[in-house]
Amino acid sequence: MDHFEYVDGVLHAEQVAVPAIAAAVGTPVYIYAEATLRRHARVFAEGLAALPKKHIAFAVKSNPNLAVLRVLASEGYGADVVSQGEMERALAAGMPAADIVFSGVGKTRAELTAALRAGIGQFNLESEEEGVELAEIAAQMGVSAPAVLRVNPDVDAKTHEKISTGKAENKFGVALDQTPAMYARLAALPGLDLRGIACHIGSQITDLEPSRQAFIRMGELLAVLRAAGHVVSHVDLGGGLGVPYRMGETLPGPAEYGAMVAAVTAGWDVTLMFEPGRVITGNSGILVTEVVRVKAAEPYPFVVVDAAMNDLVRPAMYDAWHDFVAVAPTGATMTATVVGPICESSDTFAKRREIDVVKQGDLAAFRTAGAYGATMANTYNSRPLVPEVMVNGDQWAIVANRIEPATILAAEQVPAWLK
Ligand code: LLP
Repeated sequence: MDHFEYVDGVLHAEQVAVPAIAAAVGTPVYIYAEATLRRHARVFAEGLAALPKKHIAFAVKSNPNLAVLRVLASEGYGADVVSQGEMERALAAGMPAADIVFSGVGKTRAELTAALRAGIGQFNLESEEEGVELAEIAAQMGVSAPAVLRVNPDVDAKTHEKISTGKAENKFGVALDQTPAMYARLAALPGLDLRGIACHIGSQITDLEPSRQAFIRMGELLAVLRAAGHVVSHVDLGGGLGVPYRMGETLPGPAEYGAMVAAVTAGWDVTLMFEPGRVITGNSGILVTEVVRVKAAEPYPFVVVDAAMNDLVRPAMYDAWHDFVAVAPTGATMTATVVGPICESSDTFAKRREIDVVKQGDLAAFRTAGAYGATMANTYNSRPLVPEVMVNGDQWAIVANRIEPATILAAEQVPAWLK
């Protein structure tokens, strides 16, 4: 249930006809259904209902739009941020600083300082070096930084290589066997309130077994740390739960995930922390596009749309599948390759796929585009930055303007010697 349904043969976002938004805002445009965001936020929280102590931090990177963050703040979600920019967005959306977790291997000194000043709830340290630096800055400021140490559990999340983060070869976290000694050194530093451990093994996870294995390893590590005399009150299990991208696909959902977590973590007596992104936002958004023209070719035609890889990079970057549907389908289908206008062969959304018949001027939509869609957009080929719209029932609003090429051009200048 994603609140993007056909009503009288026309795709709607909640109660708003998609063509009405396209006519007013132009295409391409992302449309988010607030009802879906809220629904997913609640379903995920309900999946964890059996856990006694927990904290849910929405992975801002999946969709950092201010209005989206506002919705999640009102659902009681905190934020998992990976830059000062994301932290400032979460704060601007009204998320309490105490509910913000800061992850990432490359937090700069300036970012660590800004996050300490803001009083965020937790730093997820990715290295000993980072911990030492944070402790030093915090001690200078006369505060103690709440932190956990991210561990690399060395398990294969069985997802796309480019979004796998929990194998030893990945840059994330510290090696499991080095963790106890490193934890002891960091815990001894004034300026650091080291209170636990974290892991995150990857994204678009469709099989719960690798996560279960990783969490079992976290449990073993927890016992080792406690046996060494450390007080461990927090364990962050990251995000990563996958979503169905294809019509009819079924995956383990929040209820199965929650049951697995409850079973593995029984008796841990810690606050469990979660960083879901895609599972909240993925199916809450679509990218609406207009067909520029249909180019005849053998054996299949090319459907050239006005959205491109700069607006939705996932197919080009991860060979990702996004369902492509006509906004007003006739019921007939055709086999075609769906491409954007960018001058690269990787600007291909669907290869030789059976799709709804579309013709020049028709509107179409890429589904499940709410996560890692607009946030990864860029202006390659001097295209505009794609706008975003949010729908709530029968009302809708632009929540991110289209940034025109002229605005970007205005931020550039020719040096004096070239004038
Ligand atoms: N926590 C950490 C530390 C992460 O690195 C990530 C995602 C998340 C949480 C949220 O993961 P999620 O629940 O959304 O799977 N651009 C890629 C996905 C990159 C994910 C990066 N890290 C894509 O479009 O598939």
